[in-house]
Amino acid sequence: MAEQLMKNFFLFMSKNRTLNQAAKKWGLKFGAARFVAGETVDQVIQKIRQLNEQGLECTVDYLGEFVSKVEEAEEMATMCIRTLEAIHEHGVKSNLSLKLTSLGLDIDRELCIRNMRGILDTARSHGNFVRIDMEDYSHLEVTLSILRQLREEGYENVGTVIQAYLYRTAEDVQALGEEGFNLRLVKGAYKEPATVAFPEKGDVDENYKKIIRMHLLSGAYTAIATHDEAMIQYTKQVVAEEEIPLDRFEFQMLYGIRSQRQLELAKEGYKMRVYVPYGNDWYGYFMRRLAERPANVAFVLKGMFKK
Ligand code: FDA
Repeated sequence: MAEQLMKNFFLFMSKNRTLNQAAKKWGLKFGAARFVAGETVDQVIQKIRQLNEQGLECTVDYLGEFVSKVEEAEEMATMCIRTLEAIHEHGVKSNLSLKLTSLGLDIDRELCIRNMRGILDTARSHGNFVRIDMEDYSHLEVTLSILRQLREEGYENVGTVIQAYLYRTAEDVQALGEEGFNLRLVKGAYKEPATVAFPEKGDVDENYKKIIRMHLLSGAYTAIATHDEAMIQYTKQVVAEEEIPLDRFEFQMLYGIRSQRQLELAKEGYKMRVYVPYGNDWYGYFMRRLAERPANVAFVLKGMFKK
């Protein structure tokens, strides 16, 4: 009960525009540096290099929320391109993750697609891949339609994310698997009503296992993005039983969460990719991480009161 209240509180706080704007001027505060790798491209490249040296690959996310002007969306696209260029120039192992709303999806679908083309062209010229993060349910249909449109235009270096908490998810995974899409599978991070998403964690976990198995067996590339040991063990079991080659799937976790386990999985021979966010727009991302786990809040409180 208390945990649910805390979760709702931090999800509510994550949407506060005033604090979001203010936080951009604060620098990484309140322990945010545990989850956000830096504010500049140079800082994030350095972190990626350190992670690569430990056997971990990365996907980097230039943080940006509440984009409501055309210029802001174009600036975000420019920063995504600059990030891809820096990855290439420094020879580090990382692809890119992004959110379509940060590229102007809520302003104009065509603006968003135009921005995506620029980013995908740069990624393609460097042999790199771009992952479209999945946002709340109201953006699901349009995200999938843009993904499919980009594929029809000839972009093969793009994939998306599917959330296990939605009732419709198994059907989406079935269709996207048949179309050969590279998917990241997650439990789902947004607050959705019971009309569209399983309210019970047990049901989400069962559905998550179902889609992990489905997508691994479809033959398309699967990224299993979770910190949940039960889901990691389940994946290991399926890939062993079904003899899924190691180069057809990977595990993913967030920067700063279960870092030791990330290293262990890499040492066991699995591809392990760390989701590395950076930028001065860290507030909303940080609040969502606090919502996920009370232990993260305890960590932050300790950091706030430590001299
Ligand atoms: P869950 O939250 O159920 O936790 C299960 C167990 O994991 C815990 O009981 C604990 O044992 C362990 N655990 C969790 N956090 C821990 C911590 N901090 N320290 C130690 N143990 C911990 N969501 C979305 O909607 N759209 C998206 O695009 C993405 N993208 C994305 C990328 C990547 C790389 C990851 C890892 C996650 C996402 N997510 C996401 C977020 C995802 O939907 C989900 O909210 C979180 O991953 C939390 O769910 P878990 O599967 O980790 O398990």
